[in-house]
Amino acid sequence: MSDPVSLSRDGDIGIIRIDYPPVNALGHGVRTGLQSCLREAMADDSLQAVIVIGEGKTFPAGADIREFGKPPQPPSLPEVINEYEASDKLVVAAIHGTALGGGLEVALGCDYRVALDSARLGLPEVNLGLLPGAGGTQRLPRLVGARQALDMIVGGKPVKAAQARELGLVDDVVSGDLLDGALAFTRRLLADRAPRRRIREMDVPGDTGAELFSEFEQSIARKQRGFKAPFSCIKAVQAAVELPFDQGIERERELFFKLLISPESAAQRHVFFAEREVAKVPGLDKTTPKRDIQTVAVIGAGTMGGGIAMNFANAGIPVKLLEVKQDALDKGLAIIRRNYQNTAKKGRISAEQVEQRMALIQPTLSYDELGDVDLVIEAVFENMDVKKAVFTELDRVCKPGAILATNTSTLDVNRIAAFTGRPQDVMGMHFFSPANVMRLLENVRGDKTADDVIATVMDLSRRIGKVGVLVGVCHGFVGNRMLHKRQAEAVQLVNEGASPQQVDKVLFDLGFPMGPFAMSDLAGMDVGYRIREELRKDDPDNAPPRNWTDELVEAGRLGQKTRAGVFDYQEGDRTPIPSPDVDAIIEKYRRDNGITPRHISDQEILERCMYVMVNEGAKILEEGIAARPLDVDVIWIYGYGFPVYRGGVLFWADQVGVKTIFDKVNEIYQQTGSDVWKPAQLLTDLAEQNKGFYSK
Ligand code: CAA
Repeated sequence: MSDPVSLSRDGDIGIIRIDYPPVNALGHGVRTGLQSCLREAMADDSLQAVIVIGEGKTFPAGADIREFGKPPQPPSLPEVINEYEASDKLVVAAIHGTALGGGLEVALGCDYRVALDSARLGLPEVNLGLLPGAGGTQRLPRLVGARQALDMIVGGKPVKAAQARELGLVDDVVSGDLLDGALAFTRRLLADRAPRRRIREMDVPGDTGAELFSEFEQSIARKQRGFKAPFSCIKAVQAAVELPFDQGIERERELFFKLLISPESAAQRHVFFAEREVAKVPGLDKTTPKRDIQTVAVIGAGTMGGGIAMNFANAGIPVKLLEVKQDALDKGLAIIRRNYQNTAKKGRISAEQVEQRMALIQPTLSYDELGDVDLVIEAVFENMDVKKAVFTELDRVCKPGAILATNTSTLDVNRIAAFTGRPQDVMGMHFFSPANVMRLLENVRGDKTADDVIATVMDLSRRIGKVGVLVGVCHGFVGNRMLHKRQAEAVQLVNEGASPQQVDKVLFDLGFPMGPFAMSDLAGMDVGYRIREELRKDDPDNAPPRNWTDELVEAGRLGQKTRAGVFDYQEGDRTPIPSPDVDAIIEKYRRDNGITPRHISDQEILERCMYVMVNEGAKILEEGIAARPLDVDVIWIYGYGFPVYRGGVLFWADQVGVKTIFDKVNEIYQQTGSDVWKPAQLLTDLAEQNKGFYSK
């Protein structure tokens, strides 16, 4: 392999090129190369200035994350950047693509920065549970002010080149050929005898008062609950205004290393790679053919169907929206328009974009208009007879090769596929509500689904901004199957003596956005009730026994929509309030069933609600419903708001210790004999070998 960094010359200007695909990450070879090329350029009397530029698609997008956690190899990135800053010749960074993290920090070690108009610049380390550890927290505030630096470092969002120019982060924005632009810029600097600009020698401009930092911390406290990095980022920026540069750098290093060894950062880095890994389906690769998806249809304009259609319109893909009745179609379209208008009111899209997106959604009442679409997603009522009618129609009208997908959340995709004469073209695309917001897409492969259909749907997931995870067929697939076990355990804990608010608080404190009961109030208590009632009719032997939640529904307490469910709600407020009426129903249920309530500790709640999910996750892996632990983890993070800083249910299980979990699962199984607590074989094996889901 050629050197990842090389030095060439254009007259009296040296050009240091970084060529280390895919993103020019600043791994050991790149750091060494940057150092040696700089030294060579400094020693070359024919050179007056140096430009640093990235080959391929980007300026370095950061430190090499894969090196974190391994023994550090010199030179460190801060050392390299210091050498650039201290060099005797003018150094200019020429930026394109995404100059992120350590990449932007290299650019901040240069005297001047030129960016291509399409470039983006940022310090996103916070998303990996880290802070910019190569001088970024000390240099950025000196260039753009503390307030703006806080926004960029704590928010972690990159800024576009034009905005970077306004902020003073870049000195020139060019279009066309970046190197030509950077050479012209550098020649002008040389002609003007422009001074060196070492950021370390600058003062932080603008507001630097202590209250700036305390107010900023307060403003993020709720949203960043449980995360460590955002708060350390604030401390580091504060050090930039309060300490001399070298002491500030020391403070930054100290805070950085604390974060680097924290479980939160390990979890967040795990999620970064897991999110990318889920797209790589075992058994398929880049050579697997894909079908061309230009147009899509969605069957059903209800909440789910409308949300699904919006995803395609947002991505610029025309979508036909089919309903059987005109008023349902009108209602669905009106809701979509209102959603877009609300987004426009928040300034996230323009009024023109609202119209563009609405124009991509073509309403129809007739299946006959679906003959030319490349993909259809069915989002109708969860009932096998209804699905049968829809898929029979689709089989009749759709062109050969069209992909026929179902958004079912529980029904058997193989049975649905069998309603058509083309089961190889059928698969599940299970969106999560609200479908235009939640990033998870469980893509369900049927027994007969063709590889190119899977590859196409996985690719399309990314095109529409989703994180697609491939799963197999079973009741509830991965996410809901695990969720149902946890919900049942939460109810059982209340049966035995816990209060709903105690259960909810334990899971909220673990980092979930809400507890199991607040969640069922949000989703509507009647949803689960209807499923249970169906089961009681169809399969009474295997149906769940009646419990106090059934009584709540029968008393008209359906959740937030009736302002009364497991909790009470005040008009226009989603805060759950414990209800004496519900307490009375629970007490009556216990009395009627001869249960003497006992004290239940928070630890017991945590163990039973979480371990039951871990055990089910292990069964799901064992059965091949999910291919890898990371698939399960990504589903929980993007579908249910499992805290990113805990890395997913199975990553969390490894941190607790699989052996500890197995012992408890087995103990409960011995006590209850309940099937859900029967330890999964995989859990048993891992515990015996003292391994975790992720240990090799
Ligand atoms: N280190 C190692 N590998 C990286 C990487 C990094 N910093 N950034 C991206 N990659 C890898 C990805 O894992 C992926 O690998 P595979 O193809 O094997 O899956 C590949 O590069 C392409 O990445 P994406 O699929 O994400 O490509 P994209 O074009 O959609 O996005 C990107 C490109 C915007 C750069 C995105 O990858 C990204 O956001 N990367 C992370 C940027 C970041 O967080 N930088 C800070 C690093 S920490 C740091 O720098 C600490 C410090 O202060 C010293």
